[in-house]
Amino acid sequence: MARKMLVIDDDPTVLSSCQRIFEEENFYVATTTSPEEGLSLVLDTYFDVVLCDWMMPGLDGMDVITRLEETSPGSAVVMISGYPSIERATEAMKRGAMDYVAKPFTPDEIIKTVNEAIQRKQVEESKIIERFGVLTKTGQISLPSIDERILQALSAAIDERRRMEAMPSLEALSEPERLREMTYAVIDKYNRDANNLIGMLQAVHSYAGYLSYEAIGLIARELNISEHEIFGTASFYAQFKFEKPGKHLMRCCTGTACFVGGGGVILEAAKSKLGIIPGQTTKDGMFSLERVACLGCCALAPVVTIDDEVYGQMSPAKLSRIIDKTYRTESKE
Ligand code: FES
Repeated sequence: MARKMLVIDDDPTVLSSCQRIFEEENFYVATTTSPEEGLSLVLDTYFDVVLCDWMMPGLDGMDVITRLEETSPGSAVVMISGYPSIERATEAMKRGAMDYVAKPFTPDEIIKTVNEAIQRKQVEESKIIERFGVLTKTGQISLPSIDERILQALSAAIDERRRMEAMPSLEALSEPERLREMTYAVIDKYNRDANNLIGMLQAVHSYAGYLSYEAIGLIARELNISEHEIFGTASFYAQFKFEKPGKHLMRCCTGTACFVGGGGVILEAAKSKLGIIPGQTTKDGMFSLERVACLGCCALAPVVTIDDEVYGQMSPAKLSRIIDKTYRTESKE
């Protein structure tokens, strides 16, 4: 599969040289003289490598690296400069660049630098994923969430394509169809590359709120890997859910302050009233139940939240009334 490269440089000669050199190396190459346009391109497409000039009118190359770290953290960034200095090279590396190359460069020099940068990035990524795995298993850290702008850009791109093909917009589709369209778009954005599996799962999970069996099956087919492998990877991370979340999320706190105040009794009351245990969703899809260690408002113990609403000094009777009221409100809508 062709790797994708983005070149951002205000010098058109550099753009055309990189395009020629790397297309011969079987890269798909996109170029732009505008840093702003480059940053918007990475929202639509996942690039394995971004070559970026240090000094450009408008956004400085250093600022571009910082923004790339937020919007396309999996891309290997290589800086290119006519006037490299140790200080700027060090600063670029600190901000996330993998390497730099001085102008003028020979084809061999830049090909070697880019290939090594991609390899180093992959090693770095797998170490981070391994580290995240250990930390998430011990409950210390969660995977970062996907930048909402990436999902918005994908939705806009799908809508635009469907408009050109005179098809209904994404919003007009049924939920399973919408999820299917978005899953295909996410797979394409990540170059159909199994090395980007975690990024794909995060994007689909952020969009749908869970990883459906259909989405996992589709990713497995398109990447030519087994569903079992995907489940194995995803289940490693506590925040991936495999069941569609309920319309309302109820969190019952059993942290120390709440437990002492009767949080355990409240949790039992919630389980019995809803007929589910923590981690499950009611059959009618109305409530999902979670047990949490502290909600940060211990003075109100025992505490329950429903979506963003905080309910303090909770009792089983009060909880029952709140649940009934939610059902009554929903039935009127
Ligand atoms: S222990 Fe429940 S809110 Fe802190």
